[in-house]
Amino acid sequence: MYNQVYSIGLCNMMIGKSTMKGMIGVKICILSGTPKSKGLSHSVIKGAKQGVVEAGGQVAEVRLCDTEIERCKVCGNGWGACVTGECEYGDDGFNEIKERVKDSDAIIIATPVYWGETSEALKSFLDRLRRYDYHHKEVLVGKQVLLIAVAGGSGNGILTCLEQMERFCRHANAYIFDYIGVNRWNNDYKKQAVKEASFALASGRKNGDTVKY
Ligand SMILES: Cc1cc2nc3c(=O)[nH]c(=O)nc-3n(C[C@H](O)[C@H](O)[C@H](O)COP(=O)(O)O)c2cc1C
Repeated sequence: MYNQVYSIGLCNMMIGKSTMKGMIGVKICILSGTPKSKGLSHSVIKGAKQGVVEAGGQVAEVRLCDTEIERCKVCGNGWGACVTGECEYGDDGFNEIKERVKDSDAIIIATPVYWGETSEALKSFLDRLRRYDYHHKEVLVGKQVLLIAVAGGSGNGILTCLEQMERFCRHANAYIFDYIGVNRWNNDYKKQAVKEASFALASGRKNGDTVKY
């Protein structure tokens, strides 16, 4: 069952409850890069969950900072899993989370901005997922991905962080649903945007659809 509280290895999964109308049962996995259980990133992720649940979807949060996922070992001549198709270190939690992402209909990637990039824990997972899926093309291919960068300091680095995640999505053959940058002085209305984007995503809207205007 997707819609229940459980944990994968060392990774905490936090699941919302599907309650309202929409595309019942759409499964959305939030890949979270924040190490904190309170704070700006957390509040933004809370808004994303609310949007999914209000649309009738199911939501699972994977907190990468709570896992022990190692960095890519850059096997072989550098191509490693991209050629062999298997990550030989996958039992550190990578395989289980990869399966969770594969089992999802759409993905939300939400990270604090650290030095203009994603958090290191999220980056380690995305690096390995990109290599795995380069070979298999089964985890993210054709899926909608909502990208959220939370720059809670100077506010600098949102664009580079979003660009880093965009490049990952393009290599993984995913569709970018939207890009949202949040900072300290816009988080009131950006959190609303996150919630509404998550609602739209869980309602089945896709990159390329035209919304009436
Ligand atoms: C190592 C490190 C680097 C950071 N780099 C940036 C940065 O480039 N730009 C920025 O606006 N904030 C930066 N911050 C602040 C984080 O973005 C901020 O903590 C984040 O928005 C999440 O807020 P939260 O920690 O309350 O969830 C950095 C924080 C840390 C710990």
